[in-house]
Amino acid sequence: MEGAALTRRGLLVGIGAAGGAGAMYAAMGALGLAPARQDMRFAPPQPGDFSLRGRAAAKVVILGAGVAGLTAAYELGKAGYDCTVLEARGKAGGRNLTLRGGDRLDELNGPSQEARFGEGVYFNAGPGRIAPWMVPLDYCRELGVPIETFVNNNAQAYVHTNGQSVRARTARADMYGYVAELLAKATNVGALDQKMTKDDRERLLEFLRRFGDLGPEFDYQGSPRRGFLKYPATEAGTPLPGPGRLHDVLAAGTGRAITNDFGHDQATPMFQPVGGMDAIVAKLAEAVGSDRIRTGARVTKITNLADGVEVTWNGGQIKADYCVATLPPHVLARIPHNLGAQVTAALKTPVPVAAGKIGLEYGRRWWELEDRIYGGVTETDLDITHIWYPSHDYHAEHGVLVGYYNTDEHAELYGALTPEDRRRRALTQGRKIHGDKYGKGLLSSVSIAWERQEHIQGGWVRWPSVDSAFTLLQRPSGRVYFAGDWLTQLIAWQAGAMESARGVVTHLHQRVLQSS
Ligand code: ALA
Repeated sequence: MEGAALTRRGLLVGIGAAGGAGAMYAAMGALGLAPARQDMRFAPPQPGDFSLRGRAAAKVVILGAGVAGLTAAYELGKAGYDCTVLEARGKAGGRNLTLRGGDRLDELNGPSQEARFGEGVYFNAGPGRIAPWMVPLDYCRELGVPIETFVNNNAQAYVHTNGQSVRARTARADMYGYVAELLAKATNVGALDQKMTKDDRERLLEFLRRFGDLGPEFDYQGSPRRGFLKYPATEAGTPLPGPGRLHDVLAAGTGRAITNDFGHDQATPMFQPVGGMDAIVAKLAEAVGSDRIRTGARVTKITNLADGVEVTWNGGQIKADYCVATLPPHVLARIPHNLGAQVTAALKTPVPVAAGKIGLEYGRRWWELEDRIYGGVTETDLDITHIWYPSHDYHAEHGVLVGYYNTDEHAELYGALTPEDRRRRALTQGRKIHGDKYGKGLLSSVSIAWERQEHIQGGWVRWPSVDSAFTLLQRPSGRVYFAGDWLTQLIAWQAGAMESARGVVTHLHQRVLQSS
């Protein structure tokens, strides 16, 4: 929980300070490439754009068939651009990776795993959730990818901190209750009078009473919101013991966990494609055309020419009018090119962040049957950070839990273990929350350490400081454009990859239309 929270904060601090999209558009504007307004709707290039201007669609080589590369190829393809996508890995998708029974997962300098999941079972090893305001949902609609709700916030899931597990609803009720009590009492004795009128005070007190479920004297003395040992039915329920005193509630340290979904990117409802996140990749790749995507194509050199770009890969050379490079910056930085030392330095600036997940397949959905947890996330202060419960196929026979989803040093710790030891450790940690059943009935597991995935080598990146590197890479270097989530304010989201690709497509198309 802390890892993810810090990660997101890190992104915002790093990039927001760098000027982010504002700086990007300012730079583009200076070049005459930017749309007039940042919030202008994306208009895909169309074949008709060329007819009046007497121009033709150009040839574009796209490096990387991840979400950014596929989006660029898809949008350029709408206007008839001749796109070739070079992908070093064995299949398209990049970090949008869904594993099913029979899939192999190789690791840099590590053992290969085979997913042994049963029929219809899948594990989203990369992205797993989409906020409603994010552009991947538009692509799902456009491409006919069915979506369903991803349960990101579940009152019935647990919060595990300081060795104790409580249901999220209990942790929230107690924390909100005591915060409301403190503020209400301070307000009531006039401690905040300089900030408020009498009417403000009354309105605030009325709100706090509701917010904390406070008693007549503004005391928090527990609430049905905390949940029950036995829920009400024909008779009144049996309340949970507690609440603890304010001191105990604060000492439990649940605060970070119960605010996890407060962010604009994490608030409920969130969504997922039905059947696996890679449905987005499959539909994009189908629309681009499989003949345009070369897998196993490792780029070894990028050369800007006066009239185009030449890309050398392990199977030959391609000359094109433009190149869109969507590889992770730290991978791209290692490919020989003639784009200059500044570009190399800029590409080396963002730091890859380790991220890991394990999929645990059980033959019995005990979290639904016994714990009554249907989707959602248990937040922990353990090195597993989170446990995700599946938001689909409820009441099916099998199900996959995400037994850890961690970043930074926790991800590095798990990544350094063998797959068997990762599983053992994840089970040991999960037992602290769910008890012995966590270790029983496990059918199979697969774990990913993104920093050990060849040609990717990181879950995402973090820009360490205010830097001109971020701005520099928003601009094409000659005829080479850069795209990816790493160049946006939506790092670690498919939305970032797609928005970045759209930006490049817009600018590249305008350039082609204006070229003489
Ligand atoms: N997009 C990442 C997530 O959903 C950060 O956890």
